[in-house]
Amino acid sequence: MCGIVGYIGFRDAYPIIIKGLQRLEYRGYDSAGIALLDLESHLNIYKKAGKVQDLENFIEEKDKSGVIGMGHTRWATHGAPTDRNSHPHESESGNLAIIHNGIIENYGALKEEMISRGHVFKSDTDTEVLIHLIEDIQNKAGIDLQQAVREALKEVIGAYAIVIMSKKDPEMLIAARKGSPLVIGVGKKEYFIASDATPIVEYTNNVIYLDDNEIAYLKTDELVIRTIDNTIKTPYVQELEIKLEMLEKGGYEHFMLKEIYEQPRSIYDCMRGRIYPLEGKVQLGGIKEYTEKFKNAQRIIIVACGTSWHAGLVGEYLIEEYARIPVEVEYASEFRYRNPIINENDIVIAISQSGETADTMAAIEMAKEKGATIFGICNVVGASIPRLSHAGIYTHAGPEIGVASTKAFTAQVTALTLMAFYMAETKGTIAKSKLIGLLSELERIPKLVEKALQSDQYILSIAEKFKDVRNALFLGRGSGFPVALEGALKLKEISYIHAEGYPAAEMKHGPIALIDEEMPVIVIATKNSSYEKVISNIQEVKARKGVVIAIVTEGDTEVTKMADYSIEIPHTDEAFLPLIATIPLQLLSYHIAVLRGSNVDQPRNLAKSVTVE
Ligand code: F6R
Repeated sequence: MCGIVGYIGFRDAYPIIIKGLQRLEYRGYDSAGIALLDLESHLNIYKKAGKVQDLENFIEEKDKSGVIGMGHTRWATHGAPTDRNSHPHESESGNLAIIHNGIIENYGALKEEMISRGHVFKSDTDTEVLIHLIEDIQNKAGIDLQQAVREALKEVIGAYAIVIMSKKDPEMLIAARKGSPLVIGVGKKEYFIASDATPIVEYTNNVIYLDDNEIAYLKTDELVIRTIDNTIKTPYVQELEIKLEMLEKGGYEHFMLKEIYEQPRSIYDCMRGRIYPLEGKVQLGGIKEYTEKFKNAQRIIIVACGTSWHAGLVGEYLIEEYARIPVEVEYASEFRYRNPIINENDIVIAISQSGETADTMAAIEMAKEKGATIFGICNVVGASIPRLSHAGIYTHAGPEIGVASTKAFTAQVTALTLMAFYMAETKGTIAKSKLIGLLSELERIPKLVEKALQSDQYILSIAEKFKDVRNALFLGRGSGFPVALEGALKLKEISYIHAEGYPAAEMKHGPIALIDEEMPVIVIATKNSSYEKVISNIQEVKARKGVVIAIVTEGDTEVTKMADYSIEIPHTDEAFLPLIATIPLQLLSYHIAVLRGSNVDQPRNLAKSVTVE
C-alpha cells in the first residue's frame, strides 16, 4: 500500500520520481504527489487525487526543477482520496515535507496535543501529524533535524516508511523505516529511495534494504545509517536480481496477461536447481539446516492472506499426503487475533508474494514469540517476511506487477510442492520410486502449462458469452477446491462480478439454491480421484438447469457430454492439478474483465501490497 520514491543526486529529479511513481503505482493508485527541492531552497509540491497520469498532466506546465525529489502514490487509509490528503505533507512552517507509507496508530492523541499548542492541520491524514511533530520537537528542543526525526519516531506507534526533505537542509534527504519496506539504491554521487527496487533498477544494481528502526541520512556523496537509538550501522550493499525488462509489458496489453503467459518460465524458475528427478532428490538449501525441526514437527501451521492463503490450502493437501505431517491453514488476520496454541515443535509456514503483508507479518511475530520455527515462502527478495523468518525459500517468479496475483500463485504452489516432497524424502514417508516418478512429472509441468495456455482463444469466446453475468459459482474437490476459490477470487477482484468458490460437495448445503439458467457454474472436473463424485455434482447442477463450464482432462468425453462448455487441460498427476487447472480460470477472469472494460492491472479499491491490517 502506497509507494514512495526519492532521489538525491546530480540529475533532474522530476523524471526519476515520476517514472518511479509509475512503477510503484500498483501499490496504490487513488492519488499521487511529488515534492521537488532545488539547492536554493525552492520547494515545489504538487499533488492530485487520481492516477500518476493525472498528476503528470497537472504538473506539465509547472516548475519541475530540482535535483532532490520525492513522490508518493497513495492507497487511502486515513482521509479520503482527495488532493488535500495526498502526500507530500508539510510541517506547520512549510519548511519540512514528508511522504509516508504505513499507519501512525497514535496519530489521534498526537494531533490533539499539537492542536492544543496551536498547530493547524491541512489534511485528515496521520502523516501530516508526524511532520508537525518533528518540527515541534525540533523547535522545542532546539536540536537539529536529524535528531528531531529520531526523537519523533520514538513517540510514534505504528508502521512507517518515510522520506523527509527540508528547505533549511536542501542537500539532504532523510528516510526511515519500521514495518513498511524501504530500499536505497546506491549510485555514483546519487542515491535513490523506494518502497521496492522497481524504480531503482534502471539506474543501479546496488541496493541497501533498510531495517526496522533505522534512519538513513542521504547527501549526494554520503550515506549514514543510524538506528533510532543513534547507533551507527554499516550499510550492507546487495546486488539486485531483477532486470529492467521484467518490469515492462513486453508487447502484452496488460501486465496480468504477460504474467499469466510467464508461468511456464516462472514455475520452471521456482524449481530450477532444486529438483533431481533421476536421483529422486529435492534440494532446498533455504530450509536444510532445519531438517530436524520438521522431522520432529507435531504439525505445520500455514499463515497467509488472499491468493497466498489459497496456495496454502494446496500445500495442506501436499504436505499431509506426502510428508504425513498434520497441517492447519489459517488466515493470518484471524490467527493473529486469536490466542492460538503454538509450541516449540510447531512449524509455521508464512506465504506472501510481496513479503510485506501486515497481517502475515504480525502472525509470524506472534508465532515466533511462542517459540515456533518460521519458514517463509516469498517472491520479493529482501522483503520483510523473509527477514522475519528463520528460514525459507524464494519463489523466483520475478516481479508481479498486475495487482491480481497469477504467476506468484503457481510459483507458491510449486514451492510448497517442493517443500512437501523435501519433507517427505527426509522423513522417509515417500518411496524413492514414487518420488522419482513425481519429480519427473513435475519437471514436465512448464510444458503442460504452455499447452493449457493454448486454449486462450476458446476461453475468450466463452468469456464473450458470460461477460454480463452477475454471479458465478466455482466448484472443485480435493486440491481442486482451492483452485475453485482462487478462480472465484480472480473473477471478483478484476471484473467485479460476485463469485464464490465452494467444495463441490458443499453445494447441496446451500449454494445450490442460487443455481438457475443465468449463473455459470465453473467446475474443476479433471480425471483424478474425485472424478466420479464431481460428475454427480455436475448432474445436480444440470438437473436445475444450471450452466456448466467444466475444466476437463484432454480427451474427456463423459463430462464434456454433460457440460455446456468444456475447457481441456493436459493430464498430469493429481499432485500437480492446481498448477494446470488454475491457468484457464486466470484466462477466463482476465478476458471477462477486459470485455467489461475493467482496469485489469489496477482493479478498484485494491493494492498489491497490503501493509495495513
Ligand atoms: C489476489 C491477491 C491478494 C494477495 C493478498 C496477499 O489476487 O493478490 O489476495 O494474495 O493480498 O498478498 P501477499 O501474497 O503479498 O502477502
